[in-house]
Amino acid sequence: MPDDEGHKYAQALAFRPACPRGDASRLIAFARDLYVESLGSDTEFRRDYGAHGQKFPLWVAACAATDPDFAALLTENGMAIGLVVLGLSRRKALGHVHHFYIAPERRGQGFGGLLDNYARRVLGRAGASRARLNVTPRNERAIRFYLAQGWQKTPRAASRLINMEVAL
Ligand SMILES: CC(C)(COP(=O)(O)OP(=O)(O)OC[C@H]1O[C@@H](n2cnc3c(N)ncnc32)[C@H](O)[C@@H]1OP(=O)(O)O)[C@@H](O)C(=O)NCCC(=O)NCCS
Repeated sequence: MPDDEGHKYAQALAFRPACPRGDASRLIAFARDLYVESLGSDTEFRRDYGAHGQKFPLWVAACAATDPDFAALLTENGMAIGLVVLGLSRRKALGHVHHFYIAPERRGQGFGGLLDNYARRVLGRAGASRARLNVTPRNERAIRFYLAQGWQKTPRAASRLINMEVAL
């Protein structure tokens, strides 16, 4: 095969800001599935964001209002395969990973590591020196993923969630 033919098989990966309006249905589908993976059903998703998840894009818009890079889609050849939503505490030293999500058919191929690298870069640039996230105990795959990326469990009393942190 001539050298210059290889590129047409290459998968072009990129991050772009999530558009609350244009990406609304994709954002809702990703977030609903994330809740199902984390909690076993979408009951809490519907409670938090409405019966059709219609409030979720508004929440994404609020995160992006802090920093346009705080809500991003990972795209592969232009198609969204992942979502990262970030936040920053008022004191700014603590960044929050609200959501990491990779579409089911693309899991287990290392794409989650790209979300993690992105989150650390963006939160560090925004002034955070540590980052925090919460994960449900039943989401063992995500916990293994976070530990492999260097996140550590930090004790938090009286919480049904596992709290994890990493230095940036
Ligand atoms: C957690 C998540 C972001 C990790 O991203 P990823 O690209 O799959 O990460 P990796 O490729 O490093 O794989 C992580 C682990 O999941 C396993 N895995 C991935 N896809 C899988 C699948 N479809 N079925 C079973 N295991 C799978 C991998 O083998 C790996 O396990 P290992 O650590 O024992 O080797 C992704 O799995 C995801 O979006 N899950 C659903 C949403 C979610 O739970 N988000 C986190 C909420 S706190």
